[in-house]
Amino acid sequence: MKLLNFTFLATYFCGVALYAQETSVFVVKPYLQDANPTEITVMWETSLGEESVVEFGTSPKLGKKAVCGAEDINFGPSRIHEVKLTGLKRFTTYYYRVKTDKLVSDIYQFKTPPFASDNESFNFLAMSDMQIDHQNPDKFNEIVNKGILPFLKSEYGNTTPDDLAMVLIPGDLVENGAKYEQWQNDFFKPAQKLFSEVPVYPVLGNHERNANYYFKYFSLPKNGTPAYAEHWWYKDYGNTRIIGLNSNEGYRDSREQFAWLKSLLEETAKNGEIDFVFAQLHHPHKSELWIPGEEESSGKVVKMLEEFTTKTGKPSLHFFGHTHGYSRGQSKDHKHLWINVASAGGAIDN
Ligand SMILES: [Fe+2]
Repeated sequence: MKLLNFTFLATYFCGVALYAQETSVFVVKPYLQDANPTEITVMWETSLGEESVVEFGTSPKLGKKAVCGAEDINFGPSRIHEVKLTGLKRFTTYYYRVKTDKLVSDIYQFKTPPFASDNESFNFLAMSDMQIDHQNPDKFNEIVNKGILPFLKSEYGNTTPDDLAMVLIPGDLVENGAKYEQWQNDFFKPAQKLFSEVPVYPVLGNHERNANYYFKYFSLPKNGTPAYAEHWWYKDYGNTRIIGLNSNEGYRDSREQFAWLKSLLEETAKNGEIDFVFAQLHHPHKSELWIPGEEESSGKVVKMLEEFTTKTGKPSLHFFGHTHGYSRGQSKDHKHLWINVASAGGAIDN
């Protein structure tokens, strides 16, 4: 009798193991990348499964379908999915959901950017250093779900993609970028409701540790120096150009990065469609709270932006983090603004 029981239990556990192997779950729910007036990229991660399908359309009935491939992310069965939707209408609300085999997401929305000539005003959000504070591990979740999203609702009252064009993050998204679990648990999960409907554009902070996970999770504009793909890039929204830079050791003094920035600013000076330039880089040139965090190379970027603004009359600003706090100011002799936005979760500096 005992033996029979044992056999039954063994079979039962086998059944559970087999079932667990076959059922895929979302490791990271869908999030948006690299939006243009006619294109957007949708990404997600599943515990299993190669299929990468996005169903989308201008109503919740969806109706269109885009398919692409999946990639290994952690030398295991989990897969990161990346699908680019093309042929979209500018400044239009779309509905979408993702599908990997039997796993189907909820339906989310996004809104494509306008052309510069549409002269649409817009809101965007800049925040950084959400890297977990172990004394307050829920802070980033609170900021997104009890701060940003209810604020947008009460202030503007439309859908999130109608009220917010994009999210900028000048670095330190997680405490240790080389730790796989931190990306899903500490970064994507708390912000899922935001990132599923508004594209997010980060740059590398020191805590990312230049880890491969960063480059796998994000699909940033491929318009930087090709040998340094996604380390620096730019993204236009209407008449505004966002410039992402890498201020980390090994990159902050890179001749290639400064040469790229110089030629981009020269092009931006001549570009009649761009009226504003917003840069983001992790390290401060000057900090009110944490002097040791300052970097001379960030000062070189500030000088280039100040000269750009003085020459062209196009206002510029730079967002930065690293020193955990909020502060803002303006260059004394230039129309260039400085904004420290590192108050999204990391322990605030004294
Ligand atoms: Fe930092």
